[in-house]
Amino acid sequence: MSDQKIVPARGLVGTARLPGDKSISHRLAILAALAEGTTELRNFCPGDDCRRTLDCLRALGVSLEVAGQPESALSVHVAGRGLGGLEAPAGELDAGNSGSTLRMLAGVLAAHPFESVLTGDASLSRRPMRRVMEPLRQMGASLTARDGDFPPLRICGAALQAIDYVLPVASAQVKTAILLAGLHASGATSVEEPARTRDHTEIALAEFGARLERHKHRVTLQGRPRLRGKAFFIPNDLSAAAFLMAAGVLLPETNLVLPQVGLNPTRTGLLDFLAAQGAQVKILDVQEANGELRGSLHLRARFGRGGARLRGGALEGALTVALIDELPVLAVLGTQTEEGLRLRDAAELRVKESDRLGALAENLRRLGVTVREYPDGLDIPGQQRLRGAEVDSFGDHRLAMALAVAGLVAEGETTLRNAECVEVSFPGFYEVLEALRA
Ligand code: S3P
Repeated sequence: MSDQKIVPARGLVGTARLPGDKSISHRLAILAALAEGTTELRNFCPGDDCRRTLDCLRALGVSLEVAGQPESALSVHVAGRGLGGLEAPAGELDAGNSGSTLRMLAGVLAAHPFESVLTGDASLSRRPMRRVMEPLRQMGASLTARDGDFPPLRICGAALQAIDYVLPVASAQVKTAILLAGLHASGATSVEEPARTRDHTEIALAEFGARLERHKHRVTLQGRPRLRGKAFFIPNDLSAAAFLMAAGVLLPETNLVLPQVGLNPTRTGLLDFLAAQGAQVKILDVQEANGELRGSLHLRARFGRGGARLRGGALEGALTVALIDELPVLAVLGTQTEEGLRLRDAAELRVKESDRLGALAENLRRLGVTVREYPDGLDIPGQQRLRGAEVDSFGDHRLAMALAVAGLVAEGETTLRNAECVEVSFPGFYEVLEALRA
């Protein structure tokens, strides 16, 4: 358990080092394992979550070579085993803190004719799995979990039937689990989602050669395609860059470049939100590779102490789905807006790496802020002063990074407890902040 001291900053200046996209890294590693031939993944996310996916794949008989240092971009070579070609693991598969690893691999393992057990750390062991168990059972696999909902998740794979499934909650992880299972079934598997979630799985499937059609919130995948390994370049993670962006727009002396970040339209809600608020974010050098857009962001200070303020307003409905991983840092940002922030329809935040609504309310109060908590959201009045205090990430990486941003904007020193959890998605995050400090 490590603490981190955060002192106020005047701005963020320079070019940030960013991790590769976590969502894309998980998906490409898994699909590479199911493909024929080798796949090269450049700029693979070095965070612990994605390393867990690699470790689990290794335990399932996949041969992988990883090059790169703990805090730098990784290069991963995967020797694909072909669809349905994984081997029974010798022991339990430990997903650590990673919900993506556990849920996505559940979809793959449901189609393999052996028994496997997926476990995780204390946080992951409190997160709901019934949402993946239900559709995978309908496809023919048998799954059991602690109290019917929580890891460890025991899976007995089977020959699967394709399904047509309407997701009760908007979740890209669940959509992905069903599509990965559907790959192994004969016939067409369809998933319909109540609101648009990130579509990296659909893009990656098409890149590997699968046939799928998309219509509004519905995707249909033809089962048993031949997936072919190839080379991929993974963009930097916009959801990791989001913390630097939020700090950047709040501090008066910012001049920040966020290079080569993923600009997939299902992920760029934050850019639209900041633009609508009047922040100055320029998008430069947009390119496409492997079906994913990327570009560099240039942020100049326009707000901050003594200057104009971001407007604030409401975040609800489909917007909360589009911004799901950015909501913790937006809550911090909300305290500095003109009108404050009204967040609703965000009950999903209660089942993330921590209960993010409860944890945000508690920590913001420790920083001297007024906040009202609702079952599905928060009311955060604007124009509030943050006062440095002792705060706690509760082991949640996005909480830790959001609270570090709060510490940069606050008056006085902030001590962040359980700070090391940033390693799951953004190794070296605090060093990057220090390097950019104006
Ligand atoms: C993710 C989907 C989202 C998100 C998570 C990553 C993904 O979770 O919060 O950080 O890569 O598919 P849900 O699928 O639970 O909404």
